Amino acid sequence: MTKSNILTGFSKLTKYQKIEYFAQHFENPKEVVEELISYFYKDPQKQKLFDEFSENTISNYYLPYGILPQIIINNKSYTVPLVIEECSVVAAASSGAKFWNTRGGFHSEVKSMKKIGQVHFIWKGDKRKLEQSMPELKKILIENTNHITHSMVARGGGILDIELVDMTHEIPHYYQLKATIDTRDSMGANFINSCLEEFSIDLQKFFKEKDIFVGSEKECTIIMAILSNYTPECLVNTYVECDIKDLADPSINMTPEEFAWKFEKAVKIAQIDIHRATTHNKGIFNGVDAVALATGNDFRAIEACGHAYASRNGKYSSLTHLELENGKFKYNLSAPFALGTVGGITALHPLAKRSIEVLGKPDAEELMKIAASVGLANNFSAIKALITHGIQKGHMKMHLSNILNYLDATLEEKKKAFEYFKHHKISFKAGTNFINELRKISSNNNQKQNGNSETQINHSLDVKASL
Ligand code: MEV
Repeated sequence: MTKSNILTGFSKLTKYQKIEYFAQHFENPKEVVEELISYFYKDPQKQKLFDEFSENTISNYYLPYGILPQIIINNKSYTVPLVIEECSVVAAASSGAKFWNTRGGFHSEVKSMKKIGQVHFIWKGDKRKLEQSMPELKKILIENTNHITHSMVARGGGILDIELVDMTHEIPHYYQLKATIDTRDSMGANFINSCLEEFSIDLQKFFKEKDIFVGSEKECTIIMAILSNYTPECLVNTYVECDIKDLADPSINMTPEEFAWKFEKAVKIAQIDIHRATTHNKGIFNGVDAVALATGNDFRAIEACGHAYASRNGKYSSLTHLELENGKFKYNLSAPFALGTVGGITALHPLAKRSIEVLGKPDAEELMKIAASVGLANNFSAIKALITHGIQKGHMKMHLSNILNYLDATLEEKKKAFEYFKHHKISFKAGTNFINELRKISSNNNQKQNGNSETQINHSLDVKASL
């Protein structure tokens, strides 16, 4: 790689130049250009909106927008939009919700909306002087950010507190200003970061101007000023509960007591074993992320926080707990899920906006409860499947569509495949074999075998399997 190969000024190219740059990586650049363009919005204004969400945008990347038709949370019914690429997540959420909708629904509450921002700085001075100055410094920092915070304060939020944290035992001369902030219904990342950057300027000025600081104490090096995505205070407690006997369900091939016993063991395993805990929690985030994506929330921030919270006691563990007491089954998800309903792309992305509308324009707290309940519904369905018939039965059924699409199956072929795989185990290989056999037979019979083609394929595949 020579210097002349290093790209410069790419971001300044026009969108079409960027598309061409991308397309030249392929053998058929013309087709690639056409393909990218085919995913554009018809309405150029809408396309412009999407282009401007990010940088170097050359097309749109679609994901399915599905719905969980009904979930009852705190006695209120919601239709929840879900954006997810993984087959079976919407089905799992729906079946978990359906199960609990008839058993009292989901119960959820939010502990608080407090978020944290930090200014990390290096300062070589007398710590006592800084501690003494904190009340005055705090006042200045809050006053000088009034121009940023006044409308948030009017909505009941704003900067709640600023503390000095001495971290010199970890890194010499390292301190933090730790701000506690309530961003109300917004995710608040820009709001928090703007306040923190303002704090940084004022902090340096404070050291320079105050007479009690002398010599090297007048200098302070700001390392960084940034919000923390760890928001343990934004805790959402969500649970479902019923009498153990009411767990009886035709899809559960065991007694309610056996089911509860096995369920408890599955949750315990996720509490003690990191390999299982990660997958268990991933199942929760299947639902939470799908709600976050559908409503234009930052799912990476929510995931990062959830996993950090799962390790808060020094060992990564399950985010759910089961209580089996006095004949009751009470299943609880307790984790921070800091979602917002204003700001970001929530009002800009047309479908994020629709999502917020279909949910009845919830405030942030309500959306946090919805996301947590969907997460719990997903997790409940996963555990229910795992301890009964296993996960692959439902999953592969959903996956069959993907296999058939990959094989470019026609409508007729799909119909036959769905029929056939009602009674046969689904796998990529089995799907491929089925379609190949179907195509062989139909070309042999000149498309005249509609009625008994399934029997022929069965026979043909059975012969193959016995070889
Ligand atoms: C798959 O996306 C999620 C599960 O693996 C979750 C779990 O195992 O609990 C089914």
